[in-house]
Amino acid sequence: MADLAISPTSDGDSVADPAELGRLGEALARLTPALARFLEGADASTFPPYPIGAVPSEPGPLPESGRGLDATIAELAIAVEWGCRIGAPGWWGFITTAGTTAGSLAQVATAVAGGQRYLVHAFNALERTGLRWLADLCGLPDGVHGVFTSGGSTANLVALGTARQAAYERRGFDVGADGAPDGAQGRIYVSAHGHRTIHRSAAVLGLGRNAVVEIPTDARGRVDLVALEAALRDDARRGIVPIATVAVAGTTDTGSVDPIAAVVEVARRYDSWVHVDGAYGLVANASPSFAPLFDGVADADSWIVDPHKWLATGLGVGAVFVRDAGVLTRAFTEGHAAYLEGSFSDEDVAVESQFDVMAGPWSDQGVELSAPPRGAIVWAVLNEIGRTGVAARVERDCGFARRVAERAASHPRLELLLEPDLSIACFRYRPAAGLDANAVNRQILEHLRRRSPFIPTSTMVGDALAIRPCFINPRTTQAHVDGLVDEVIRLGDELVR
Ligand SMILES: Cc1ncc(COP(=O)(O)O)c(C=O)c1O
Repeated sequence: MADLAISPTSDGDSVADPAELGRLGEALARLTPALARFLEGADASTFPPYPIGAVPSEPGPLPESGRGLDATIAELAIAVEWGCRIGAPGWWGFITTAGTTAGSLAQVATAVAGGQRYLVHAFNALERTGLRWLADLCGLPDGVHGVFTSGGSTANLVALGTARQAAYERRGFDVGADGAPDGAQGRIYVSAHGHRTIHRSAAVLGLGRNAVVEIPTDARGRVDLVALEAALRDDARRGIVPIATVAVAGTTDTGSVDPIAAVVEVARRYDSWVHVDGAYGLVANASPSFAPLFDGVADADSWIVDPHKWLATGLGVGAVFVRDAGVLTRAFTEGHAAYLEGSFSDEDVAVESQFDVMAGPWSDQGVELSAPPRGAIVWAVLNEIGRTGVAARVERDCGFARRVAERAASHPRLELLLEPDLSIACFRYRPAAGLDANAVNRQILEHLRRRSPFIPTSTMVGDALAIRPCFINPRTTQAHVDGLVDEVIRLGDELVR
């Protein structure tokens, strides 16, 4: 073969790109001290309150001529210093935390060398490994098909889009190709504590947010099976198409896990697809102590899990799994693209180049075409700590929630609002009779986030405003957990005095 190497001098007659394309090692080395300082802050046993810092109140104008790489590194270092502190050991808000070292490192490696999740290269292989390991970790059945997504919101959309395709196919319609048939109303059934991205998915899928039937829960925050069956039965009588019944494996508000096996049993009686929203909780199935909560999970049709929650990959990593890849593809295929014609070798030709085959069906499965190989980040996290490491994290974090629950239940001026299933504790300060407990606890929350290193967020348990720490943060220790409870008592006493 002729030598096709291009000599560097052949660049001479073209205008160089204005961006710096090398010096990455040097640039990283210059940013590293700021990153290290940021993490030291996150690891301190107590950290000062979190001021907003150097956030410009107005975006400056777009620079006409760029300020160059050196100035950009310097400004990035300032942004790192005032970056988002969800990795701080006392942050327990929502269900979100920062990446571990392996997670962050793999994010960087993936950004630089991962390119696209397609084609034949090391990161494409890690994408597949990440999917397989994640399914195994969560106790999903052999042969499930997975796709990484940007997070749980997109994962729920993809799962419910697949459910919609299947529901109408069973009635003789290809909704992916032709849209929903006239007059065929479809509904999704989920507990009143289902995540609102279920409703958004219903809106995007053309079912409408009001097509989500919110089923009441029992006192533990788990779906009421009698009410679920009644809703499915009444709608079946009216000819409404059951698109999906969603079992929540860890609600966002209270961490309650629906009785999945029983949900599957009820849903099957009405020919309904079963989707498990395990964005938060499903990885707890890795722990033998918590696995009984997930009994029946392998019998569902689709599942989601968010590695960027309890696996601490850093943000931007969700996953959806389905039992039947065919229906997923029929729901989301792009159809024929001319630019792919002739781009790849025939199937029976040996693969010689990274660019010989597409290597992964994901472009026709979900809502993203271009995407980074997020599986490499999941692979790195699981490769570092393994199944037992995940189980240990889950058990420790659920133990923290139990500890808060026990202290709240036994203290005269605290109230436990719900027994935790997983790692979310819901409790409050109990002021003397006659005082507005919600108002007092709202003030406690404000003091905590403005003046303390302990930052839970809140939810409503019935009519009660709950202080709601969600423990998924690998940097938390028991001293932080006890610090929160002590501080709530101290602040409550001070406020009501
Ligand atoms: C149960 C559940 N489902 C879905 C989501 C949405 O996930 P994401 O924020 O990754 O889009 C969340 C987020 O907290 C969740 O708790």
